[in-house]
Amino acid sequence: MKFKLLIYAGIIALAGMSFYNVSDHDIMATGKDSVVSGKDSEANGKDNIASGKGSVAIGKDNLPSGKDSIASIKAFSKVYSVLMSPRCMNCHPAGDIPLQGDDNHLHTMYPKRGADGKGLFAMKCANCHQPENTPGVHTPPGNPNWHLPPADMKMVFQGRSAHDLAKQLVDPAQNGHKNMQQLIAHADDGLVLSGWNMGEGRTLPPMSHAAFKKAWIEWIKTGAYAPPVN
Ligand code: HEC
Ligand code: HEC
Repeated sequence: MKFKLLIYAGIIALAGMSFYNVSDHDIMATGKDSVVSGKDSEANGKDNIASGKGSVAIGKDNLPSGKDSIASIKAFSKVYSVLMSPRCMNCHPAGDIPLQGDDNHLHTMYPKRGADGKGLFAMKCANCHQPENTPGVHTPPGNPNWHLPPADMKMVFQGRSAHDLAKQLVDPAQNGHKNMQQLIAHADDGLVLSGWNMGEGRTLPPMSHAAFKKAWIEWIKTGAYAPPVN
């Protein structure tokens, strides 16, 4: 009995070693095997678990099958142009006050983020931002969920280089604990969609939502590469 246990322990140890020694090439070639278990992904210190089908397994030691740094960086340049556009950046400010307009000026009346991103005291976002756009120019855009990212996870876009923002977006400790699958799904999030529906008098992001979504998914599925530091 003891002897058998020892053998099992040996096999497990060997299997463990070979998992950590496989090259990227092996991981890519095996496809299905690149889906790490919850346990292994913890050992890798990454939350970035594969999709249901195993097609998008991303993490330092676990690259996706469609890995392609050139295509990925190219897709991210499109993504970045949208993220930095006023309709998105105004809710992803570096400070604790949202921004307004195409020149990203500080929100008049200075509503503050607050712990949950929904505003402080009498200046709750939802007091002025209704579930729907208010008709007219210079009126508050509407959405039932209108708020900033929370104080403990500010998801800042303003001032971030493409390199830094790409890294931040895929870091679960900075992106709201999203794994790759959840990040992909976020392309259809209500507040993201609101960027293309902000009411009268506001310019649109530089491409359609469909084009943004395509570039977003391509960026992630080809390895979520960060462009080089300038
Ligand atoms: C009304 C404010 C608001 C607007 C406008 C907005 N966002 Fe956000 N965004 C948020 C909040 C709040 C969160 C955090 C909630 C969450 O992650 O589910 C968030 C989270 C995100 C995240 C995931 C977190 C991260 O940093 O990885 C992405 C990506 C994102 N937004 C992209 C966009 C894009 C693209 C646009 C414009 C088309 C946009 N947002 C417009 C408020 C906004
Ligand atoms: C007292 C009313 C009021 C409160 C409270 C308020 N807003 Fe606004 N907000 C407005 C008005 C009015 C506009 C439109 C201003 C304009 O277009 O000139 C606006 C515009 C915005 C815009 C700009 C949209 C764009 O892309 O130009 C963002 C972002 C925004 N608000 C976020 C927030 C957030 C987040 C909160 C809560 C922390 C909040 N607001 C609280 C009244 C308010």
